[in-house]
Amino acid sequence: MIEKETILVTGGCGYIGSSCVIDLLDQNYDVVIIDDLRNSNIKTLDRISEITGVTNLKFYDFDINDFSKLLHVFENESIKGVIHFAAEKSVQMSINHPLDFYENNIGGTINIIKAMSIMGVKNFIFSSSATVYDKESLSPLSEDSSLLNPSNPYGKSKLFVEQILKDVCNSDENFSCGILRYFNPMGAHNSGKIGEDPKNNGGNLGPALVKAMKSENKNFQIFGNDYETRDGTCIRDFIHITDLSKGHVNALKYFETNKGLCTWNLGTGRGHTVLEVIEAFEKISGVKFNIEFCPRREGDIAISYSSSIKAENDLNWKASLSLSDMLSDLCKWSYELDGKK
Ligand code: NAD
Ligand code: WQD
Repeated sequence: MIEKETILVTGGCGYIGSSCVIDLLDQNYDVVIIDDLRNSNIKTLDRISEITGVTNLKFYDFDINDFSKLLHVFENESIKGVIHFAAEKSVQMSINHPLDFYENNIGGTINIIKAMSIMGVKNFIFSSSATVYDKESLSPLSEDSSLLNPSNPYGKSKLFVEQILKDVCNSDENFSCGILRYFNPMGAHNSGKIGEDPKNNGGNLGPALVKAMKSENKNFQIFGNDYETRDGTCIRDFIHITDLSKGHVNALKYFETNKGLCTWNLGTGRGHTVLEVIEAFEKISGVKFNIEFCPRREGDIAISYSSSIKAENDLNWKASLSLSDMLSDLCKWSYELDGKK
């Protein structure tokens, strides 16, 4: 019998982490999750079990900034690789509380790498973001687009970690690191049983749509309709959460035969305007919003979409699900939230 490999997933109860755990289990990996539930719900573990049929998930509830607890997990489990999702993601929080933010996103990552180094674990996949690109860089953004000036401390925290990871790889030729720059994840698992359920409202479009759909007045605020785009609202590369999480498993597999540091964009290569998303969501949900056009949101850029050709070539990965898939799965998930909370 071939022994299963164990992957440590930090932040595995969160939006993207939980989706990735489902893929890892489907692909016959064993999974160990660390999450202190600061932005997620313990019920996620039951939801993962319901979908995958795996009932004995290994879960540790603590803050990854606690190094001795972290080391203890590495000592107890035979971990082959790490997918590191645990971080703060609210752009607004990063602007208001930069030190707490950097402490978690940079300090937490350093802790993980140190524990890996002590225990000889050499495979690391990191959740980065399209916000690392310079706000002046033109779309489609490729991995070598300019990184000089990310628009907020959130983006900077991801960029600093990317640079730290480069130094780690330079210092250890056996260390492998995949940096995945996500564009705009949206949607939920196709079963509608698991999706984004944040404790802190990060202001992202998907949760905002669900919130407005459930509100009495159905008001929806669009931040800016005077951008130079086809309808004046921002353009983003929305990618289905299931497509996104599959990219992580492909990246892990890539490092079975490759070493060193590689960076990949994970996006669809297509852009939709905010208004197009809202209109598509209205059709799918049957809800009509009262749209209010508000001033631009600070830090927003007009257009961001990817070139994901590198991931296609190296990882044999391509996003295949459409905007309608994302929005109908988001709708299913919002009904599930109604029923279970
Ligand atoms: P999320 O908040 O849903 O998930 C993060 C999880 O990590 C949460 O469950 C939270 O409780 C946990 N966590 C945070 N800090 C922790 C700590 N110190 N110790 C233990 N657990 C901790 O966010 P997400 O959307 O799933 O994002 C996952 C990763 O992807 C993050 O690194 C985020 O920055 C990155 N990312 C997200 C997006 C997006 O739009 N969602 C886009 C680009 C990059
Ligand atoms: C998308 C568009 C808003 C809510 C950020 C991070 C990125 C990634 C995703 C990660 C913008 C508009 C939104 C609303 C609106 N994050 N909008 N009304 O800003 O592209 O990217 O989140 O962890 O790294 O930078 O995503 O979903 O916040 O916004 O008009 O109520 O929707 O102004 O144009 P963004 P978003």
